[in-house]
Parts: sequence; structure tokens; C-alpha cells
Amino acid sequence: MIVSGSTSQALAAALARELDEPLAAVEYDSFPDGELLAAAPGVADAEPDRAVIVASTVSSDAHLEVLQLQDAVREAGVEEVVTVLPYMGYGRQDKAFEPGHPISARAVARAISTGADRVLTVDPHEEAVCEFFEPTATAVDAAGRLAEPLPGDLVDPVFLSPDAGAIDLAETVQNAYGAGETDYFEKVRHSGTDVEITPSDVDVADRDVVVVDDIIATGSTMSEAVGVLRERSVGRVFITCVHPLLARNAVTKLSRAGVEAIYGTDTIERGVSTVSVAPAIASHL
Ligand code: R5P
Repeated sequence: MIVSGSTSQALAAALARELDEPLAAVEYDSFPDGELLAAAPGVADAEPDRAVIVASTVSSDAHLEVLQLQDAVREAGVEEVVTVLPYMGYGRQDKAFEPGHPISARAVARAISTGADRVLTVDPHEEAVCEFFEPTATAVDAAGRLAEPLPGDLVDPVFLSPDAGAIDLAETVQNAYGAGETDYFEKVRHSGTDVEITPSDVDVADRDVVVVDDIIATGSTMSEAVGVLRERSVGRVFITCVHPLLARNAVTKLSRAGVEAIYGTDTIERGVSTVSVAPAIASHL
């Protein structure tokens, strides 16, 4: 039985269809003091052997909701609890940046592990975060699907990643598209929103470019990359990512930078989430 967190309702429904499993009735409420109450009455009614909780932890509330749903389904007597984090919040805080800082990814992973027999997460920023879970989480690869919404008529395309860390993603999308070349920019982050991009050597003049990253958060990285491309007489610029977090004014920032289109998956449910990761998740369940 599939149990949806409030942040991943469309994806949970898609997964239920994909697996031909029932989608549980759920309720999300809160008390007057602000405390949350996420419940799965549908699981208590149906008494399935397995509950698959699908919830992207895009906020601290969403984290808490996962813990509550895990507890609720266990309380309802299910034997196996599988937790799917399509997007794992705090995953980028995978080290202590300064003395006295927490390893936040590890802290949340440990908490979630206490209520799950298995955890799956889609394209984490660093696969090593999977080892913070006990047992080790499964990383689901959905990047190949990012080629699906791209126009079929890209002109001599270049698939660029904004830093060396995402070149594998760019290569995966280029392979799936079946044409073009790949390269990457050098990136230096000065603060949460201040990013400096150094151009790659590849000639982009009059060519269509697809910039590929794992996540667009504030949009600073992508808008800086698009700005660099615009200075070099690029053709059309498309941007695509697995996790379209798109915080604050990111969409406006990117639109003003001159992108043709933004594509993302439904690990985070936004207007640009045109690619579903449901089949990729289903293949691991
Ligand atoms: C960082 O290494 C990631 O791959 C992304 O490039 C980054 O998290 C994007 O963040 P923002 O959109 O805030 O620049």
C-alpha cells in the first residue's frame, strides 16, 4: 500500500498506478499550538503487509511528517515499512562545515532509519549520504529521464553542467538524448546566493545548450551559468534538473536570465515537474 506525504501526493499516486497497489487514505492536520498530525487511516483499515511512504522532505515539517507516518503505519501493524524520499532535504549538509556544526544529513538519516526497514532516495547530491541510513539507503537513478521533454530539434547541442560534480548527470542526459557533446563550468560559491561561474572552453556560439544539474534551489548557479552563455552568442538555453526546488524568486531569476524552458522531475512537485520518477522508483520496489 502506498502512503503519501503531503509534499509528494501526485508522485505517490503515480507510483500506486505504476505498481498497481492501493493508495492509502491519509490526513494532514495540525493542532492550535502548531504541532503537526499526519495520519494514515487507510492503512489501519486495510492492514497491508507493506507500507511504502513517499514523501520529499522539502521542509522541517515534511521531515516530521515522515516520522509520524512511519510510526502510524507501524502502529497499524504493517510488517515492512519502506520510506521513499524522492528528494532528501538536508542532503547537501553532508559534512560539518565548521567546528561545532552538525552533519545534518546524517542526523536526519538516523532519525528516518529508526522507523524504516528500507529507504530509497532519488539522485542524492552525494551518493555517500546513503550510508548515513541504517541499512544503507538505495539511490534511485532518474537522470536519464531528463532527456524526455527536450525538443527533438536541438541545434548541435551542448550538455553542460555548472560544476565538475554534475558532469555525470550531463553525460547521462546527453546519452539519453542521443546527440551532442558534454562539458562543464568551474563554479565557486561565495555564499548561499552568490555564485561565480568560469566558462568552459567549448564553443557554444549559435548552438543550443542544455544546462544540467541535480538541483535548482535559489537558481543562482543556473542564472549565472546562463548569463555566461548569453555573453557568448549561444543559441537557445534549456535548463533541466532532477530536483526543482526553485526557492523564493528562482523562476523569475531564471526567466530574466533568458532560459527557453525549465524542466524538472516530480521529486519536488512544481509547475516545471514534467518528468515522473515513478517508473524509476517502482523498479526498486
Ligand atoms: C551544488 O553543488 C548543487 O549541485 C547545485 O548546483 C546547487 O545546490 C544549486 O543551488 P542554487 O540553485 O541555490 O545555486
